[in-house]
Amino acid sequence: MPVVTPKTRGFICTTSHPTGCAANVKAQIEYVKSQPALENVAKKVLVIGASTGYGLASRIVPAFGGGASTIGVFFEKPGSEKRSGSAGWYNSIAFEQEAKEAGLYAKSFNGDAFSHELKAQVIETIKQDLGQVDMIVYSLASPRRTDPDSGETFNSVLKPLGETYTNKTLNTDKAEVTEVSIDPASQEEVEHTVKVMGGEDWSYWISALDEAGVLAEGFKTVAYSYIGPEMTWPIYTNGTIGTAKKDLDKTVAALDAKYGAQTAVVSVNKALVTQASSAIPVVPLYISLLYKVMKEKGNHEGCIEQIHRLFATYYGDASAASDEDGRVRIDDWEMAPDIQAEVDALWNKVNTENLRDLSDFDGYQAEFLRLFGFGIDGINYEAEVDTDIAVPSIEG
Ligand code: NAI
Repeated sequence: MPVVTPKTRGFICTTSHPTGCAANVKAQIEYVKSQPALENVAKKVLVIGASTGYGLASRIVPAFGGGASTIGVFFEKPGSEKRSGSAGWYNSIAFEQEAKEAGLYAKSFNGDAFSHELKAQVIETIKQDLGQVDMIVYSLASPRRTDPDSGETFNSVLKPLGETYTNKTLNTDKAEVTEVSIDPASQEEVEHTVKVMGGEDWSYWISALDEAGVLAEGFKTVAYSYIGPEMTWPIYTNGTIGTAKKDLDKTVAALDAKYGAQTAVVSVNKALVTQASSAIPVVPLYISLLYKVMKEKGNHEGCIEQIHRLFATYYGDASAASDEDGRVRIDDWEMAPDIQAEVDALWNKVNTENLRDLSDFDGYQAEFLRLFGFGIDGINYEAEVDTDIAVPSIEG
């Protein structure tokens, strides 16, 4: 059995710690259990992208806050005797074990959510075990997608539209604030990013579930988006990824037209350290400043707090905060004018020398490592650990 230590390169960590990941999952479960039980929550929930970040939280909240049966879909790497697998693999094993202990139904599928085969497998299991699902959470973040019909593979890019975008950014390896210039995307890159991160696969999932007769009457479905402050709009909201996110709104309109108003919704979530967000230029510096301001104000949330609030407001109260486009806004605390004014002032001042004073870069780094199970109290990182683990309820 190996001793597992972090091996990071930029926004990637190639190792993860099984016991540390399990501790992360346990802490999220404990948070949910410490909150009042959720009312009117879906009882049979399918989460697509369920192993890390917002999707993992979206599985934990209905399961441990409302006793829901859950099916999770993700694309993760199992470990071997000598090498650790991916964090999402260990998170999912821990989730399955905790759910089993709590007497909750849980099953998972490790494979390509974009494929027809995986959808068919999930549907078969729903038919056999649950009959129907009453909520579908779509929380995929992927750099590529192979179209299940044509076999063509599309890659998503993180680029501005129209003109070159230049702004401050953070080199997280060197703790340096530098300037980055990103050339605009080609039309083809925009279209490919929409293919990967837009609403097409979400609608394919709902159609496949519907055709198989496994959607419960009055089912709900949610996908996640981000808007953020103006300084990041060229690379996010007005860039390739934002164009893909706008495509989700079209899917919402089509699903609502077919299944009834308020069936589908986009939830705009807060910027948080996850494997997906650390890959976006400029955003990690913004997140480091945002964490500083929100922690000082006492209203900082992580994925589990965000998603708990989503379920508590969206399901528990019909007047849940939604904007003029009908999207649920759990980024409301992030986007509050006082928070944004402070972040903006810090943004103008921050440089390599004052990075650790003006921003919560230390918090950013610690949270990044925690995503992979490192830096958690009570875990002996010098000890050998079993990396070759699995549970029967995860297929693939
Ligand atoms: P993440 O990287 O933590 O999670 C991505 C999930 O997708 C994982 O479970 C992964 O296994 C799964 N996945 C990727 N490719 C797959 C495939 N081909 N088949 C099956 N599963 C696959 O990402 P994060 O940040 O939780 O993002 C989830 C959603 O939330 C995304 O739509 C993202 O845009 C959105 N969001 C994220 C924010 C952030 O700051 N992190 C803010 C607002 C929205």
